[in-house]
Amino acid sequence: MHPMQVLHSMSSGNDSPKGIDRKTVKRVWDFSTPYRPMVIGFVVLIVVGTVVGLVPTLAFQDIIDVAIANEDTTRLNWLGLIVVAAAITSAVVSMVERWLSSRIGEGIIYDLRDKLFRHVQAMPLGFFTQTQTGALISRLNNDVIGAQRAFTTFLSTVIGNVINLGITLVVMFTIEWRLTILSLIILPFFLIPSRRVGARMADITRESMELNASMNTTMTERFNVSGAMLVKLFGRPKVEADDFGNRAARVRDIGIRSAMLARVFMTAMTLVGALGTAAIYWIGGQMVINGTITIGNLAALSLLVVRVYLPLTALSNARVDVTSALVSFERVFEILDMANPIVDAEHATELSNVRGHIRFDGVTFTYPSSDESTLASLEDGAGRRLPKRGPGSKIGAGLTPLTETPLASSGPEREVLKGINLDIDAGQLVAIVGPSGAGKSTLLNLVPRLYDIDQGSIEIDGHDVRSVTQESLRGAIGVVNQDPHMFHDTVGANLRYANPDATDQQLVEATKAARIFEVIDDLPDGFDTVVGERGYRLSGGEKQRLAIARMLLKDPAIVILDEATSHLDTENEHLIQQALETALDGRTSLVIAHRLSTITSADQIIVVDDGVVVERGTHDELRSLGGLYDTLYENLLRTDTMPA
Ligand SMILES: Nc1ncnc2c1ncn2[C@@H]1O[C@H](COP(=O)(O)OP(=O)(O)OP(=O)(O)O)[C@@H](O)[C@H]1O
Ligand SMILES: [Mg+2]
Repeated sequence: MHPMQVLHSMSSGNDSPKGIDRKTVKRVWDFSTPYRPMVIGFVVLIVVGTVVGLVPTLAFQDIIDVAIANEDTTRLNWLGLIVVAAAITSAVVSMVERWLSSRIGEGIIYDLRDKLFRHVQAMPLGFFTQTQTGALISRLNNDVIGAQRAFTTFLSTVIGNVINLGITLVVMFTIEWRLTILSLIILPFFLIPSRRVGARMADITRESMELNASMNTTMTERFNVSGAMLVKLFGRPKVEADDFGNRAARVRDIGIRSAMLARVFMTAMTLVGALGTAAIYWIGGQMVINGTITIGNLAALSLLVVRVYLPLTALSNARVDVTSALVSFERVFEILDMANPIVDAEHATELSNVRGHIRFDGVTFTYPSSDESTLASLEDGAGRRLPKRGPGSKIGAGLTPLTETPLASSGPEREVLKGINLDIDAGQLVAIVGPSGAGKSTLLNLVPRLYDIDQGSIEIDGHDVRSVTQESLRGAIGVVNQDPHMFHDTVGANLRYANPDATDQQLVEATKAARIFEVIDDLPDGFDTVVGERGYRLSGGEKQRLAIARMLLKDPAIVILDEATSHLDTENEHLIQQALETALDGRTSLVIAHRLSTITSADQIIVVDDGVVVERGTHDELRSLGGLYDTLYENLLRTDTMPA
């Protein structure tokens, strides 16, 4: 960016900068409560440091006016020693000061991170489906550090300089009050612009934090295995790189803008200070000639006046700094303030000795909209959207979309489940079937309370899922998803995630039961083999069996299984079938089934269509109905590789 452009953009744009809310300042103050003792210690040290810092100047005045004038060598020696002692003291004080300020600063970073992590982790699933991971991570990194800077800058620069200024002024007044007042005439030139520049800087910081978040989002989305694969397969690395380049360029430009704004301001302040110093020399020199003050007085004053203007410059600068860093506090508080709609009830009980009787009573459900579940700034990562196709593009024009569901954030909200009633006995195997988008996965996600329902109730052994603790509820339920996730860690660690106390023997048993032991045994390091992010080094079928093993280690009373839709080869299919027989035995099992073998062996089949249970019964009962199930079954018969 050209310097003139930079200056221009600083003055133009938003005419009334938003600045900082007073409430934020108040909250930061409350937040700092645990650090008060350290802050007080810090302030005391600053006072000591300032007083000690004045000693050499006063000694200098005495050397000129008394020691030199009277040729008193003993006095000169003593004064020399005092100056040395002051220097040593001030070195020690500054070390301890730094130690305290970093303890406070790092402590604040720790506190904020810890709070944020806990808060975000407890947010319901809806929050994560609507939030851009990159934007969120940026808040936990960049903004937390920015917030810490607000605090430490305030402490070291603002408090330090105010004390410095106060003490120095008092000493100056005692030496010569008229000159001191004269030196303060230019004070307004420091105070007035700092306010405006501060607010402007806060806006720039806000924008820059948002841009950083959006850059982060691009990276987290594109640099995970699935994202990277998508970019490669669809051959758009250039578009992606350009897009990222644009974002990075905006971060660069705004960085230059804020640096220039800060420097222009700083230079102006230094200039004002230099004028004040000139006035002291000029008028002070006149006063020495007139005999109003001594040469020693003038020497001391001219040293002291620097100690007035430097803090003044630093202070007006700190105001700009602190205001802009407060933006980060604001952004961190914004996240901490997000209400969590799914929390344990006040007198939530532990769900224990679960038998596994499940009841849905008139359950109605709508997915929460994005404004209910997340912050706008986290949802789109500050303007982050997929690169648009050109208007002339015909890609996909001839294809009919599979489903034309509007996104939850746009248009009126749609009821996904409408008055569902179910009664599932303990130990039953229930198959759930229905067309794509019917609401099958949604239905099962409600049992572990990943979402709260709008109307009706879901009960396990007669306890409403909202009346028990989420931890005990989820402890009783084992879930195997369509596309199970594995952390980037060893096979063993991934399995033990379900049960940290599991013995090696238990791992072997579970993996044998899930028909995955042989595969693991063949891996180069067995259970110590690292499975890549999302378990990418395993095939789809292997991953699903590993997930079944993980679920077995948890030994839950209720099993929820979303069968993979993809057709497995006969070998894999057979293995999964065997794995399931062990896995589901003796547990209440809710299975979204795509394979005939699972469906026909179910105690109860539930047919869901468009959010409603349309048919229910055994295979034979439903076949004789000749309804939706019959059609689905006929279709499956034609395509399934292994009819029962
Ligand atoms: N997180 C979500 N936010 C908003 N709407 C959603 C969400 N998840 C699913 N939906 C919508 O809810 C409806 C039911 O989806 P669901 O995933 O339950 O279907 P399904 O029966 O499991 O389909 P499939 O067999 O294809 O997996 C769909 O119309 C879908 O678009
Ligand atoms: Mg589904």
